[in-house]
Amino acid sequence: MPLAILYSRAITGMESPLVTVEAHIANGLPSFTIVGLPEVEVKESKDRVRAALQNAQFEFPARRITVNLAPADLPKESGRFDLPIALGILAATGQIPSDKLDQYEWAGELALTGELRAIRGALAMTYGASRSGRSFVLPQQNAAEAALVKGAVVYPAKSLLQICAHLAGREPLQRYEVNSGVLGKGDTEETGTPRYPGMDEVKGQAHAKRALEIAAAGNHSVLMVGPPGTGKSMLAARFPGILPSMTEDEALESAAMQSLSSGGFNVANWKRRPYRSPHHTASGVALVGGGSNPRPGEISLAMNGVLFLDELPEFDRKVLEVLREPLESGRITISRAARQADFPARFQLIAAMNPCPCGYLGHYSGKCRCTPDQVTRYRSKISGPLLDRIDIQIEVPAASQEDLMRQAQGESSNTVRQRVEIAYQRQLTRQGKANSQLMVKDIDKYCAPDTLGESLLKQAINHLNLSARAYHRVLTVARTIADLAASDGITSMHIAEAVQYRKLDRK
Ligand SMILES: Nc1ncnc2c1ncn2[C@@H]1O[C@H](COP(=O)(O)OP(=O)(O)O)[C@@H](O)[C@H]1O
Ligand SMILES: [Mg+2]
Repeated sequence: MPLAILYSRAITGMESPLVTVEAHIANGLPSFTIVGLPEVEVKESKDRVRAALQNAQFEFPARRITVNLAPADLPKESGRFDLPIALGILAATGQIPSDKLDQYEWAGELALTGELRAIRGALAMTYGASRSGRSFVLPQQNAAEAALVKGAVVYPAKSLLQICAHLAGREPLQRYEVNSGVLGKGDTEETGTPRYPGMDEVKGQAHAKRALEIAAAGNHSVLMVGPPGTGKSMLAARFPGILPSMTEDEALESAAMQSLSSGGFNVANWKRRPYRSPHHTASGVALVGGGSNPRPGEISLAMNGVLFLDELPEFDRKVLEVLREPLESGRITISRAARQADFPARFQLIAAMNPCPCGYLGHYSGKCRCTPDQVTRYRSKISGPLLDRIDIQIEVPAASQEDLMRQAQGESSNTVRQRVEIAYQRQLTRQGKANSQLMVKDIDKYCAPDTLGESLLKQAINHLNLSARAYHRVLTVARTIADLAASDGITSMHIAEAVQYRKLDRK
């Protein structure tokens, strides 16, 4: 039959809708047309497919070839349709058997030699394929990632020839078996080398370490303010090492996001919390996601992990304002003229900034010459509403010389993490989520302080002029402090410490 039908998948946001690839061969002047909203990469597929077929010693038909990618209104991008298009032409010209084609879904970019190249989004596509009950054939480099989907039947292949041998029944492809040895062990495995630098390398800064411990336990966002060279970046890089270990579901969510990025997901990072630190020159699209075919940005790639924004006031203000929405809802919606995509973005924000434009305000050297006006202007680059949403704001002063001269002998990340883990479990048992994610009505229920605490809080609100949101954030932080102390109630001590962590939003 001069018509072959194969299945593949597109990627729209997090979804991976089915695409039917129809190849039709007709008599007439030789031509090769691809229809069904192909974007540039898909149009270029013609040349790759032609060369790959010829180099694999197949015959490229000198007839009218029409390839239709259905549904017609769904835009198709990327080179992953090369493989099904090539197989379609082979099946429609009778060069390979077509009886078993409908049991599989196909994706892979072809090199001119007929080898297969890695694709992005393998995880999302495999989800779709396994739900539809078909096996998934894809480039070998993506197999480990795809096999993370439970129950999926994945066939990795190196080249077009290998797949043709499989279809002809000469040499079947080997199904990919998950070998748990290849999966990373997570951040927290006691054995093996630690995956993050250790907290014990940071000298002094007990106040900042304590604040980070609270942040890790309750999933609170943090802003560190201090002169250059005081260890802010150092602390941030060590933060993922004290976070509670990841569950399977969280690990899968993070892996699915990484899989959509051009870098793909490396299974060695399985159960490892992502740590993203985009530079302040990053564009809005890079940070929050976007593009004509929307792709996740840094905030989504930091899913269930840490987003570190160093030099916060240097970021484009408009870009920072976009963060407000995902900080609260854990999602980002990207609307473009043609399409809309919704990406999860549950990240933990760790930000750092200097106290003033020159950076040395309050430094013991006294070399800061910034005027109060300049300082105000500098700080006002971060809007009140954004600051409101940052639960913990601390100063990280220059460590004293004695501290720096001393041998580092603080607690290891592991010791801190064990306390964090216990406090986090208390939250899950009580309310099923981290304290930072409590809604207003939950806050009334779970975060009511005792009478002394309440009167202290009232004073603090009046004195510091806290907004309603800041008031709620103080309560959730106090809840975490109480959890770390294994205390069921919130006392004035917990409130007092939580209020301390609102350094910047005092009006
Ligand atoms: N508390 C500290 N303990 C140990 N080393 C420190 C500390 N603070 C700063 N340093 C040293 O100074 C360097 C710069 O620190 P960094 O974290 O980049 O500072 P910041 O981000 O605050 O400008 C670090 O690489 C480290 O060698
Ligand atoms: Mg720094």
